[in-house]
Amino acid sequence: MTQSPLEAAAIAITGAGAGLGRAYALAAAEAGASVAVGDLDLASAAAVAAEIQAAGGSAVAVGGDVRDPRAADDLVGACRAAFGRIDGFVANAGMLRPGDAVDVTPDDVAEMLATNVAGVVHGVGAAMRALREDGHGGSIVTVASGALQGMAGLSLYGATKGAVMSLTYTWALEGADAGIRCNAIAPLAHTAMSELSSASERYRGGPPERVAPAVVHLLSAASAPLTGQIVRFDGRRLGLMDPPMLRVLTEREHWDVADVAEALTGRLAETVAPVGLLASPRPTWV
Ligand SMILES: NC(=O)c1ccc[n+]([C@@H]2O[C@H](COP(=O)([O-])OP(=O)(O)OC[C@H]3O[C@@H](n4cnc5c(N)ncnc54)[C@H](O)[C@@H]3O)[C@@H](O)[C@H]2O)c1
Repeated sequence: MTQSPLEAAAIAITGAGAGLGRAYALAAAEAGASVAVGDLDLASAAAVAAEIQAAGGSAVAVGGDVRDPRAADDLVGACRAAFGRIDGFVANAGMLRPGDAVDVTPDDVAEMLATNVAGVVHGVGAAMRALREDGHGGSIVTVASGALQGMAGLSLYGATKGAVMSLTYTWALEGADAGIRCNAIAPLAHTAMSELSSASERYRGGPPERVAPAVVHLLSAASAPLTGQIVRFDGRRLGLMDPPMLRVLTEREHWDVADVAEALTGRLAETVAPVGLLASPRPTWV
């Protein structure tokens, strides 16, 4: 790989004022990119942009709430206005409110869907429109989470990340004809958000900077063959998540309740996979 994998590229990142997004912005700039630093909190976005500029890089800070579709166009527009182009977009902004099914409030549902799902849809939609218009392809990185595999206390949060995973698969298909790739990172790092999760210390991860190289790679041309993938990275262990797949089938012309029961407790029962991030079968090490 070259020393500057993002030389001459312009990248927009949401939620880049703190945590993982900040680390992605700093690493992208170090890899040669000009960065549009988006965040709900303009002051923190401005501080990150100033940090990039102080190190000799190019950055612009953009305040905006990903829940507002106009903010997506503003961020992408600011990137193109400041740097004359856009090559990559990281839909990083997200929020987490823990709670079991019995505790989740209507406000939790509305806020988490608006930020983690609608916010990503608005952002990627705006980025896709701009990348298609410019016609030189590009790379979109969405942000999933191991919680999508199932984690007690994080059902709603995990579900929003399951939605992101599914969106990523389809966006990879939709962008292919225009050379627009879409992959997700499922990170793990110690941030303000990870303090909120019920996960034990062991699962809080290390500093966000350690995750950033994977995002820089996904944004760069060096990852060209990769699209529609969920990359799991905690700064130490790097892996790929399998997409959900129909693994086993059984067929008959007519099914009654007893047939279903017989199949699901018999032949199919033998193939049942465990659920939950912490119950996953051991991955293959390579
Ligand atoms: N930290 C982890 O271990 C972990 C694990 C899996 C996935 N993630 C995901 O990574 C992403 C970043 O997480 P983090 O841990 O850095 O979180 P964080 O809370 O530390 O930082 C989130 C940033 O996003 C901004 N933001 C929040 N809501 C916004 C909105 N509506 N509009 C614009 N900006 C907004 C915040 O101001 C903040 O700067 C999230 O999508 C999160 O779900 C994090």
